[in-house]
Amino acid sequence: MNYFDRITLKDGRECILRNGTENDAEAVLEIFALTHAQTDFLLTYPDEKTFTLEEERDFLKRATENDDEIEIIAIVDGKIVGSAGIYPIGRREKIKHRADLGISVDKQYWGLGIGGALMGACIECAKKAGFLQVELDVVGTNTRAMGLYKKFGFTEFGRNPMGFKSRYSGFMDLVQMRLELK
Ligand SMILES: CC(C)(COP(=O)(O)OP(=O)(O)OC[C@H]1O[C@@H](n2cnc3c(N)ncnc32)[C@H](O)[C@@H]1OP(=O)(O)O)[C@@H](O)C(=O)NCCC(=O)NCCS
Repeated sequence: MNYFDRITLKDGRECILRNGTENDAEAVLEIFALTHAQTDFLLTYPDEKTFTLEEERDFLKRATENDDEIEIIAIVDGKIVGSAGIYPIGRREKIKHRADLGISVDKQYWGLGIGGALMGACIECAKKAGFLQVELDVVGTNTRAMGLYKKFGFTEFGRNPMGFKSRYSGFMDLVQMRLELK
């Protein structure tokens, strides 16, 4: 899918939100590595295998071409500082109404409104794609992300006490949240 918006952040700077394309692959891999090193709340450790540049290019190309998925990047001062994506949980008839959402912002840019803007953009795209429900898993102690999700109307529907096994803090609750789209 395609998306474009221009917003003003809480500190007065401009932020562009747009779908990432294959030309952004290198920068998207860089922000992925950075954000995943900054917090223990995301799935992948920076030293775990992620996409190669070629795989990232294919991934962003497909997300742009398909009308039911998107990776939205947030750009401040010409630099990618965060991203969020909407992806179908599956394409079979019984589950094709459900989308998965993922989000991360560079810690240096937290609290400026970028997370909220990315969430709003993802929800808008999910509606446009015809999804009826957006879902995500969040670590129970990730109060910042949970606050953001609740602000957008997400509600908890389950908890997995052994959801994550962190190298640093052991088992972490994974809270399952959902948002119905009208
Ligand atoms: C969660 C995250 C995306 C939020 O991004 P952000 O750019 O800081 O978010 P915003 O500045 O737009 O804040 C949005 C809302 O989050 C909520 N929020 C922010 N900080 C909070 C806190 N400390 N406690 C509770 N809620 C909080 C508020 O509702 C806030 O809205 P408000 O400013 O109108 O009150 C960001 O902190 C992040 O990338 N964290 C690490 C990765 C991660 O945890 N991703 C989610 C995995 S499930």
